[in-house]
Amino acid sequence: MSSFDPTQRPVWQALTRRASELPHLATLLDADPDRFLRFRIDAPQMRLDLSRQRWDEAIRGQLLELAEEAGLDTARKQLFEANRFNPTEGRAVLHTALRASAEASVEVDGIDAIAAVHAALERMRTLSAAVRDGSWQGATGKAIRDVVNIGIGGSFLGPAMACDALGDTDGPKVHFLANIDGTEAARLLPKLDPTRTLFIIASKSFGTLETRSNALTVRSWLLERGIAIEDLRKHFVAISTNVAAAAEFGLPEANLLPLWDWVGGRYSVTSTIGLPIALGHGFEVFERLLAGARAMDEHFRDAPLVANAPVLLALAELWNTNFLGTESHAVLPYATALDLLPDYLQQLEMESNGKSVRIDGSPVSARTGTILWGNVGTNGQHAYHQLLHQGTAPFSAQFILPLDPGHELHSHHDWLASHCFAQAEVFARGRSETDAQAELEAGGMSAEEARAAAPHRAMPGNHPSSTVLLDDVGPESLGALIALHEHKVFVQGMIWGINSFDQWGVELGKVLGSAIHGALADSPEHHEAKPPINDSSSRELIALFRAHQRGT
Ligand code: F6P
Repeated sequence: MSSFDPTQRPVWQALTRRASELPHLATLLDADPDRFLRFRIDAPQMRLDLSRQRWDEAIRGQLLELAEEAGLDTARKQLFEANRFNPTEGRAVLHTALRASAEASVEVDGIDAIAAVHAALERMRTLSAAVRDGSWQGATGKAIRDVVNIGIGGSFLGPAMACDALGDTDGPKVHFLANIDGTEAARLLPKLDPTRTLFIIASKSFGTLETRSNALTVRSWLLERGIAIEDLRKHFVAISTNVAAAAEFGLPEANLLPLWDWVGGRYSVTSTIGLPIALGHGFEVFERLLAGARAMDEHFRDAPLVANAPVLLALAELWNTNFLGTESHAVLPYATALDLLPDYLQQLEMESNGKSVRIDGSPVSARTGTILWGNVGTNGQHAYHQLLHQGTAPFSAQFILPLDPGHELHSHHDWLASHCFAQAEVFARGRSETDAQAELEAGGMSAEEARAAAPHRAMPGNHPSSTVLLDDVGPESLGALIALHEHKVFVQGMIWGINSFDQWGVELGKVLGSAIHGALADSPEHHEAKPPINDSSSRELIALFRAHQRGT
């Protein structure tokens, strides 16, 4: 069976025509005083404003038609049932099971996934309670004061983002060790008391180079500081699908929390991978995050497509990417607590939908994925917003603003919100040269000077954006925000006909990295013989690096 090719659909051609006829976004906004109401969506923990997208109701209708032709209505329900949405890895895709209620059940490969999840949740509850109340003790009988999550990619970005968003812990301090760059371990380890630190080895595969290397470094560090080998189990727990590898590392099964191959790494923050959240903030907080995600899951599954937040967010960005030619997507949280959200979404979106072939292996015929980047407002306004306002690269943006800031400095929050709304307005409307000139003249400049200055002060606008008004930055809203984006990515992948759940593109770099690592080894057989890459750039860079290592 061939995969869905959206570009072959008449509605795709119709949308292409519509894109070429569209007026400026300012015109669309001015033409309809009720535009906000037509494009507002209420979803759990948030209200979404899509009225500053450069579209109209007819375009939205045609995009929904395209989604239906792609089979979205059935597919969104299958995301809650046994499915095979990841055929290139032969796996089901069931992150929705991670937050399903205990009464539900989904059987995967003869096992009830939801029952397995709830059994694991109970273990997380017991473990986090023991660490937090001091009954889990380190080798010398002391309570745990610091927790270090050793993991990378999906085994890092989600929990790090959530822990950062939730602020100071009321339990042990939580740290993250992700990179193979020894700077991370070298900076972190001296700050820790080995007798009072618990390390989580978080790795779905238990084979990831960075995580294995960091885990081995930490293991030696503990041993060198007098922790006996038989006491290592008091300082390590692991989260993995790979029981054998965890056992080989020396961990008893009691120290291993399960993970399942039907949870993609970047979709795993609501799984046992969320353990740092439960350790730092309490299991109840983690449960509230799951509840927020579940509420968004149910909204995605049950709400009509035209009032469905993940669906419309996905369609808006697909419209921008494929029809309006935007080249990147800026995620701009006006919330310091969400400063790691862009990093988290980068993996979620770019590792999922950065694909060039459809599920059947045929090349895609439209752009897929989005280069996603961003940082918190208002900081960005004093950095890269200049290019957004007056540069030449087309982009779209997503603003995120919590209504409740979680602090009492209300005047700050009013300013923050004002700037958030102002930036969205300027992105949409811009300022014409004529208006710039008139404003300068009104400010006292001569007509001639104003004419010369106006082009430098004009900005084109016409940049589409969405605004997400979050109730707050709390566990429920975080859960809902995570699920919103997970489902957005799913919808886009469906329409593009690609597999959003594999990541073969990252493998080649890993293989070459290992080969080059061999060439860096200071053994004679590696020196002259077959460098793994023989272009002059790699050869000479490797030679320079090796010479430096040898001090020559
Ligand atoms: O290399 C990419 C990747 O496989 C991600 O998809 C994943 O989240 C990350 O590495 C970490 O993988 P693991 O949890 O198996 O260590």
